[in-house]
Amino acid sequence: MSQVIQQMNSTSPAHVKHVKLAAWVAEIAALTEPKDVMWCDGSKAEADQLFAQMVERGSMIKLNPAKRPNSYLALSDPSDVARVEDRTYVCTTDPDDAGPNNNWESPEKMKGLLKGLFKGCMRGRTMYVVPFSMGPIGSPIAHIGVELSDSPYVVVNMRVMTRMGREVLEQLGTDGEFVPCLHSVGAPITAETPDTKWPCNPNKYICHFPETREIWSFGSGYGGNALLGKKCFALRIASTMARDEGWLAEHMLILGVESPKGEKSYVAAAFPSACGKTNFAMLIPPTSLGGWKVTTVGDDIAWIKPGKDGQLYAINPEAGFFGVAPGTSEKTNFNAMATLKENIIFTNVALTDDGDVWWEGMTKVPPDHLIDWQGKDWTPADAKSGRKAAHPNARFTAPAEQCPSIDAEWQNPDGVPISAFIFGGRRSTTVPLVFEAFNWNYGVYMAATLGSETTAAATGAQGIVRRDPFAMLPFCGYHMGDYFNHWLRIGHQIKRAPRIFTVNWFRQDEDGNFMWPGFGENMRVLKWVVERCNGRANAEQTILGWTPKFSDLDWSGNEEVTEAQFNHLTAIDNLAWREELKLHAEWFEKLKSRMPRELNLKRELFELAFVD
Ligand code: OXD
Ligand code: MN
Repeated sequence: MSQVIQQMNSTSPAHVKHVKLAAWVAEIAALTEPKDVMWCDGSKAEADQLFAQMVERGSMIKLNPAKRPNSYLALSDPSDVARVEDRTYVCTTDPDDAGPNNNWESPEKMKGLLKGLFKGCMRGRTMYVVPFSMGPIGSPIAHIGVELSDSPYVVVNMRVMTRMGREVLEQLGTDGEFVPCLHSVGAPITAETPDTKWPCNPNKYICHFPETREIWSFGSGYGGNALLGKKCFALRIASTMARDEGWLAEHMLILGVESPKGEKSYVAAAFPSACGKTNFAMLIPPTSLGGWKVTTVGDDIAWIKPGKDGQLYAINPEAGFFGVAPGTSEKTNFNAMATLKENIIFTNVALTDDGDVWWEGMTKVPPDHLIDWQGKDWTPADAKSGRKAAHPNARFTAPAEQCPSIDAEWQNPDGVPISAFIFGGRRSTTVPLVFEAFNWNYGVYMAATLGSETTAAATGAQGIVRRDPFAMLPFCGYHMGDYFNHWLRIGHQIKRAPRIFTVNWFRQDEDGNFMWPGFGENMRVLKWVVERCNGRANAEQTILGWTPKFSDLDWSGNEEVTEAQFNHLTAIDNLAWREELKLHAEWFEKLKSRMPRELNLKRELFELAFVD
């Protein structure tokens, strides 16, 4: 192993040629006072050594290699289980630049506060230097970051989720650009405060500085709070880079659709969290549709840049899936389950007696005995009292290349051409199964007003519609009104704009039953979408946009949806839309200072159209 441990007070290792990077690492080491600094090379040997250290310390469990080769389970502190939106900040000189969609603090004040918190915070720990590329190394759509972290859990996760290590340093050369990403669990090891299995700090700060393109994250070791390439860089900082440079950084899956004739189209789709994004990205079409195939480019984030030919091209900046485990099964997502066979890091799922993993929804019948995500005994009797074996936000970290549906072009540095954008939320009423916007600006309106109903699990209150424009509300690094302006601008700049669609898989009948079967059946809608893009599918003009009639979708092999049900699913209820438009008005009012006039006018046009 070519691991390079740097003793404190020494200069950076010989292979580090980037003066600014070396200086930054030295500056942060002086501030945080780790016992040593390790420059990560990204090798398997290095990861194996870190896993072995974590197993020895009790912060990782090695799973039974006969069941789940080369896989591990981490159980977090019960206080550190998810992204912490209320502790997430965007720090800009002018508060209005961060917008009402972000928590704000001035860069100066926040830096001062953070410097106090980071002072000596890595004592007794190793500081890892993790160079990573978001996107294929050297791709014109990719960008580089370097994360400094005192968490070996972060290092092994970043190795799966990004292209990480020596090659990235080489790509950076002597003066390449990188986004500095500083992370600490905020738990120095001292005589009074010994190490724990999942070190973290109750005082958490996840801070973004878009003006200087920096990230400082303190106190959490979990997911998007700590794997800084993901939500922090690839969405919050990248969205501001994209605004400044004329591209898009989006909370979108990317999938390929191949017709039986071998014609390929790519689609990018945005859904708020908990709407089955990973399932849609890995969809298996019903065989009755006659040889249509879906391939996966990404399940969470898309970076999209205009190509020379006037089309938009997208890459998945990530190299792995950090997916929610509960609810994933061979039935709901066969491809995800096949991806999870080996080389996986699980977090907060339950441990079986034979050294494998389990979570709610994985099998119909739970095992007789488990160790739950808090390390306690669990039996099916506990399910009756509502105690879950896996945390609802338990995760798998899986290499994308292991996914059976991975697209042949997923590593193409030039990206894949996008034919359509799809936006969808969880709506029990009002929003039809699918419709196509009349044009780009109408599509931007629909995405800007995207709403999703809260589920009882998350908030205790079911059925409250929250606006989540473009599914970007928690992830847009600047004022949402400016973000809408940016989208409108991009549409005017490109020659061949993708078509824009709205979908809703979650409409319910009067008795509260879902009317659309979802999962593989979504292919019928997806087929209509790509056929619309290729000029081959019919639609009817409605107030909202172009909507398919029953006969416009392919129903081969369908046993579930009747024509009456379909008509119900696609019905536009004037009264409900009048109420909906009032909510749009309230929403736009919140963004007033930067709201594009175009979208306010569109809202008024809709209002006129729904008058009687
Ligand atoms: C995620 C999310 O974790 O969107 O991907 O919340
Ligand atoms: Mn996401």
